[in-house]
Amino acid sequence: MRKEEAKKRIEELRREIEYHNYRYYVLDSPVITDEEYDKLFRELVELEEKFPEFKSPNSPTQRVGAPPLKEFKTVKHEIPMLSLDNAFNGEELMAFEKKIKRMLGTDEEIEYIVEPKFDGLSISLIYRNGELVRGATRGNGLEGEDVTPNVRTIKTIPLILDNPPPLIEVRGEVIMFKKDFEELNRERKEIGESVFANPRNAAAGSVRQLDSSITAKRKLHFFAYALGLYEGVKFKTQEEILNYLKEKRFKVSPDFKKVKGIKKVIEACLWFQERRDEYPFDMDGAVVKVNSLELQKKLGATTHAPRWAIAYKFPAEEKETIVRDIIIQVGRTGKLTPVAILEPVFVSGSTVSRATLHNEDEIKRLDVRIGDHVIIRKAGSVIPEVVRVVKEKRTGKEIPFKFPDKCPVCGAKVIRLPGEADYRCTNASCPAQIKGRILHFVSRDAMDIENIGESLVNQLVDKGIVKDIGDLYYLSVDDLLPLERMGRVLAEKIVRNIQNSKNRPLHRLIYGLGIFHVGKHVAEILTQKFKTMDEFLKANIEDYMEIEGIGPKTAKSLYIFFHEPKNIELIEKLKKAGVRMTEEESEGKLKGLVFVFTGTLKSMTRHEAEELVKSDGGSVASSVSKKVNYVVVGEKPGSKLEKAKRLGVKIINEEEFLKLVGRQWEEL
Ligand code: IVH
Repeated sequence: MRKEEAKKRIEELRREIEYHNYRYYVLDSPVITDEEYDKLFRELVELEEKFPEFKSPNSPTQRVGAPPLKEFKTVKHEIPMLSLDNAFNGEELMAFEKKIKRMLGTDEEIEYIVEPKFDGLSISLIYRNGELVRGATRGNGLEGEDVTPNVRTIKTIPLILDNPPPLIEVRGEVIMFKKDFEELNRERKEIGESVFANPRNAAAGSVRQLDSSITAKRKLHFFAYALGLYEGVKFKTQEEILNYLKEKRFKVSPDFKKVKGIKKVIEACLWFQERRDEYPFDMDGAVVKVNSLELQKKLGATTHAPRWAIAYKFPAEEKETIVRDIIIQVGRTGKLTPVAILEPVFVSGSTVSRATLHNEDEIKRLDVRIGDHVIIRKAGSVIPEVVRVVKEKRTGKEIPFKFPDKCPVCGAKVIRLPGEADYRCTNASCPAQIKGRILHFVSRDAMDIENIGESLVNQLVDKGIVKDIGDLYYLSVDDLLPLERMGRVLAEKIVRNIQNSKNRPLHRLIYGLGIFHVGKHVAEILTQKFKTMDEFLKANIEDYMEIEGIGPKTAKSLYIFFHEPKNIELIEKLKKAGVRMTEEESEGKLKGLVFVFTGTLKSMTRHEAEELVKSDGGSVASSVSKKVNYVVVGEKPGSKLEKAKRLGVKIINEEEFLKLVGRQWEEL
């Protein structure tokens, strides 16, 4: 094929493929089969390979992402990306209209456009001569981050415009649909990664990735709702803008409404409010905009928001349901949380079948009983809670709830300390806490051990393979292999990750132990003063209190933790495994020394002994040579002993070895 011809065909294919992307992703109504699409796509890939001079970042073949960036460039918004003022009810909307009419000096009915308010990340897209040249986040409104490679991966964002003006800046919101958000979180949970709190965070986190190939894997959508800069096109109304964007193959606010007068605006807002659950994405309100651009111009804007628009925010949705039961959940730190088991109801985008009752006092305050009709809502739109009891509906058969004095999981005693709202289980090995404690221990801010998620921890604990945090360090590939969804590569990776975590500084370990009242920050403060684990084990309450930022509650909690025999045992186990017990990396008293072991040791396994050497900076060899400093001889030694004698290497017994590594020798 000649060059000219190839160029023409490439352009044709790009346009055609982008059209089919539009049919598929924006209109949800493809006109060709997947096979036909793949054929076109392959042809384009091949031509671009043959004629690399025609490669373009705006080719549909480039939607898979570009090489990772080191950081985002900051870019300026020529026209600031403003925020919106809020209205929470009809009255506030009426006040908005009154002000507008006053400013315009008119009594005539004003025309408005009412659109859904998308809960995502606002983005600006600049097209020059129909080519997408820049995508940026809103940032502080004046300056944002250049996320061009990322936005190119979003299928509902056109890379090329048909029949374009010389310049146009399209503004809108990147969002994640509710079902895609839930699926993403499910996947992340399984592989032990942190989950996103809501679809908005998931969308924002997905766009703000330095590696755009990660963005490409996330299911994101872009809805266009406004213009920034533009040249060579003219508009009279917001309606015209929305229709123009639609024609240019953007996805625009579905069901937007043109209405006259504020009464109709309120109706339109309520129309969206009543249907918010039916939409596939989170809508946190409706946006009301004066339709005429001429009037918009007259009204202008304050530094932070236009005067011609307002966001009507939906109230937190409330629903009535029935309390079927009240149960107690035991958390990672042993906290007992009462939870109402509900007759399932759909609230703010998902089905709710439990709601937190927080603590004993809250149950008393609400006077909630089993069998009660209650009003629930999602607090901060995530965790459902009980707002009040519908006492008029009581029949007299409702059963008051009595807080248990035993942990429902392990049967141990529970206590409520003075000044505390919560009951806690006193058993550090309570199985309910183990799972949570392990997940906390491996989390990013603690020991940062990757690839250990909820489903793996569930299996490890349920099968009795891991009974406490310490057991993690004794896991072998063979222990992991029989587990579900486990292969050799993953098992090896997990064991490696665990072993690599041994050298984390002490503050991570202290935080990872999950001591009540000891968060990440407190752990850091503590280890500025106490630089070794032994100092923690020896400290009394006053020693802790001397540290600025440590109050009596935290001090008491630390003291109790480090004096609980079970916890001391655990720390000993971690020490034996070779987990670092110091804040600063120690030079190690065995630095540069090479050990060889032969025969069976009495006080520990070979593995433990080797880890002890390594944790003190020494190394272990498998055979005797002149480079070896010590040969440690246990019972029934092998030929290594003879070789050591022959080469004149120093030979020591178990007792001497233990002394060397600073351990007590206990006659067994
Ligand atoms: S218009 C200057 N329309 O809400 C006009 N904004 O709370 C502002 N938003 O920063 C943009 N849906 O990110 C507009 N249909 C919609 C919107 C919308 C969501 C976001 C936008 C804005 C924020 C203000």
